[in-house]
Amino acid sequence: MSGFYGENLFILESALKQMLTNIDLIKCYCKSIGMHDPIEHFEGRIKTEESMIEKLHRKGLEPTIENALTKIHDAVGVRIICSFVDDVYTIVNMVRSMEGLEIFEEKDYIANPKPNGYRSFHIIVFFNVNLPGETKRVPIEIQIRTIAQDCWAALEHSLHYKKEIKNVELIQDELKRCAEEMASTDLTMQTVRQMINGEI
Ligand code: GTP
Ligand code: MG
Repeated sequence: MSGFYGENLFILESALKQMLTNIDLIKCYCKSIGMHDPIEHFEGRIKTEESMIEKLHRKGLEPTIENALTKIHDAVGVRIICSFVDDVYTIVNMVRSMEGLEIFEEKDYIANPKPNGYRSFHIIVFFNVNLPGETKRVPIEIQIRTIAQDCWAALEHSLHYKKEIKNVELIQDELKRCAEEMASTDLTMQTVRQMINGEI
């Protein structure tokens, strides 16, 4: 089904561009005042039409553009990767105080990891995107996580795309162990940084 987003694609792309600019401005701002930059890197994407239609089916929703833009909140997604766990929460606070958006939902999978070990902070916002002559309200999913959490999520994600994997249970157990070890190392790294900076 090509052209599923139709003229809405322009709105989604505009929302993504404006949100990525806001995030880039956080980096520029920190640099300008000589503050530690909490963002290691960031990226964004529009969900492919195929994957949006698949998600609508999975959620038992009719594959309509209306449902895609109102019932599913990650047609536009951005990911912000931080070096340290406290940077993640710095970004969360910065997103909360951004002008021109409303927080719809927050999920702290760092404080409350998923049973498989997944860690990340998710925020769904309704972002006011400025278009010529009008403002549109577009949901955006923001995922904020550490480099270690990002590396883990990519590896775990790859598991879902492989068919006929042997030792699935062993792999899942090992992934969970990795997630816990990485979480522990993330905290130790943060403590070492605070010691280096004379903060503790
Ligand atoms: P969907 O998982 O997108 O259907 O929505 P949800 O309502 O379950 O939201 P949730 O916040 O759990 O997940 C949103 C997104 O976070 C997913 O689309 C993934 O990109 C990511 N995510 C959530 N859980 C996992 C996980 O266990 N592993 C990996 N690799 N990514 C995850
Ligand atoms: Mg999910």
